[in-house]
Amino acid sequence: MNKYERLLLQNKAWSEEKLTLDKSYFERLAFQQKPNFLWIGCSDSRVPADRITGTDPGEIFVHRNIANMVVHTDLNMLSVLEYAVHYLKVEHIIVCGHYGCGGVDAAVTNKSFGLINKWLRNIKEVYKMHQAEVDQEPTHAGKVNKLVELNVVEQCQDLIKTSIIQKAWKARKAPAIHGWVYGLSNGLINELITITPDVEAIHPIFRYEDSEL
Ligand code: CO
Repeated sequence: MNKYERLLLQNKAWSEEKLTLDKSYFERLAFQQKPNFLWIGCSDSRVPADRITGTDPGEIFVHRNIANMVVHTDLNMLSVLEYAVHYLKVEHIIVCGHYGCGGVDAAVTNKSFGLINKWLRNIKEVYKMHQAEVDQEPTHAGKVNKLVELNVVEQCQDLIKTSIIQKAWKARKAPAIHGWVYGLSNGLINELITITPDVEAIHPIFRYEDSEL
């Protein structure tokens, strides 16, 4: 059996196992999804949203990209955000980075990665904003991990700059925004920041008037 075939066989086994435990498992899930959480995480294969939080299918709406970025011109991210916030009405958004992130690591070097440079450019901008703090770290790995943390906080800030979040905060006082960093070496989540709905959390220049939402 090759590696590819293994996936399909494991799928059959998983489906059977679920049905053994609960006959209506898939019928119920197929009927409706009502997740309470939107996850914005890194594409890294070692950071699966549901596994590390012990959640089941149907519980977390997921968007992943390299280094868990919230780029305000990214139509993919914005569409996921709009759907999660205004249709699914999630109560929490989790931006989850991870220590040792390859995307962040690449961004703090001068190496060229072709097309990916354009994506890493967003991380370099975050580095530039916090250069003094990041450069205090004596080692390269330390710099990467410091920037991983600062980047997560910055992406949370970028979320509340969107009219999508501001509109929801005005309409229903939700969702709350959480910034986490996952440790690949111990499997534990480090909770860095929570932003609860409050206009004061938004830098004044990014606050939109009602008419412009
Ligand atoms: Co990563």
